[in-house]
Amino acid sequence: MAESFHKPNAIIFGGLNTYSRALAALLVPLDGKPLVSNLRIVDKFSVAPPTTYIGAEFPKILAQPQVEYRQVNLTVASAVASSFDPPDGVTPYDYVFDFTGEVRHDRTEMIQINSTCNVARMIGLEAAKRKVKAYARVQHPFYETSSSNKASHDEKEDAKPVGTLGIWWHETLRILATIEDLNLIVLRIGFAYGPYTNYGIIASGITVGSVYGYLKKPMKSVWSPGKNPNNTIHIDDVAGALWACAEWMAPLGRKAANSLAGEEIIFHNEKKKVKEVEGMPAYNTKLIAPLFNLVDESNSTLLSIGQVVTSFFGTTFEFFNLVESTVLKLADDSVEDINEAHVSGWVDMIQTSHPPIPNTPLSAYMDKYALDKHTVAFNSNKIKEVVGYHLKKPHFNHETVKEMVDKWKDEGSWPNLD
Ligand SMILES: *[C@@H]1O[C@H](CO)[C@@H](O)[C@H](O)[C@H]1NC(C)=O
Ligand SMILES: *[C@@H]1O[C@H](CO)[C@@H](O)[C@H](O)[C@H]1NC(C)=O
Repeated sequence: MAESFHKPNAIIFGGLNTYSRALAALLVPLDGKPLVSNLRIVDKFSVAPPTTYIGAEFPKILAQPQVEYRQVNLTVASAVASSFDPPDGVTPYDYVFDFTGEVRHDRTEMIQINSTCNVARMIGLEAAKRKVKAYARVQHPFYETSSSNKASHDEKEDAKPVGTLGIWWHETLRILATIEDLNLIVLRIGFAYGPYTNYGIIASGITVGSVYGYLKKPMKSVWSPGKNPNNTIHIDDVAGALWACAEWMAPLGRKAANSLAGEEIIFHNEKKKVKEVEGMPAYNTKLIAPLFNLVDESNSTLLSIGQVVTSFFGTTFEFFNLVESTVLKLADDSVEDINEAHVSGWVDMIQTSHPPIPNTPLSAYMDKYALDKHTVAFNSNKIKEVVGYHLKKPHFNHETVKEMVDKWKDEGSWPNLD
């Protein structure tokens, strides 16, 4: 009888700097019943004192008795293996949530291979060896999809990985897919946003939008309005969908899951790399893994996100005219030119805040990636139909922006100018 009351236990690897804290908050909520009996979180960062921004809520999650945090160098195989040894009296881990990987766009190929591919491969191999029931991997929207409205945007569309980062994150999926005994599910998300999350282009857009509101000037983009889908997703849904995927996978196993939801993970790399990278499958190996897209129902585009954010801060979203944007795109230091206007505005806001803001994890500096044109449109019908997942926050709107800003204000990360 006792067995039927057994709640699964779980390990989260990586992602403190992105979205894993939202999953921890779902698994062991501060108010409400935990979904797991035991949660271990493993990442390279220190949490006390924090060496990355973790927000005001996460230390309270960590303080709960069934939660354990381990600072581990995940590039070391033995450290990965011992991360799976449960504490005394605890059963082996049932679920693994993999948020690992280097998310910075300015990192070299070698760093991507070591920190994204190799780390995930070691965790995946160990998870297969330990027979974990579900291994859910988060895949960021480092892709370019078709901008045509006629395209399906479903999991069968051959989305092109963008840049060094995109190529190696995508390769990581192929590497994981080769591990036959791994109960792998890939959750491919849109541009995620939510409370206590400073990572990503949406957080950046919100910060910069607030500056233009403060300056009472329009916020302008160099990318003319048109087909620039930038599909979004709330971090509560990233967390909710990961959990739903794990619960879906556990009774099925990989083979059955592949036949219900398997997709070919298409080769998008240079053939010569196969010899250079350990564990990288040959270009012509057909690799299948269960893959689900996850975006909200806003059909967000650059324009719609810009309009939601700027109207929230009392200004407007506009586009540079053709001459202005051509000049900006051609200039070597266009990133600096564009940033000049709002970075000093943000500093001004921080300095005039009451109470003062001694430290903020938020920056109004937009790097080249944040300023680049993105074309990401995914259709997430499949996860709704196959897994039965229902979105909790289907719309990117004033309410969801307010939720973020209010929580940053409460913890003293956001200027208070009232
Ligand atoms: C992690 O381990 C690798 C391999 O041993 C080492 O090169 C690297 O410096 C370590 N990183 C840290 C932050 O200690
Ligand atoms: C990547 O890993 C290889 C092999 O372990 C090591 O020789 C190299 O120094 C690492 N490079 C970086 C940039 O971490």
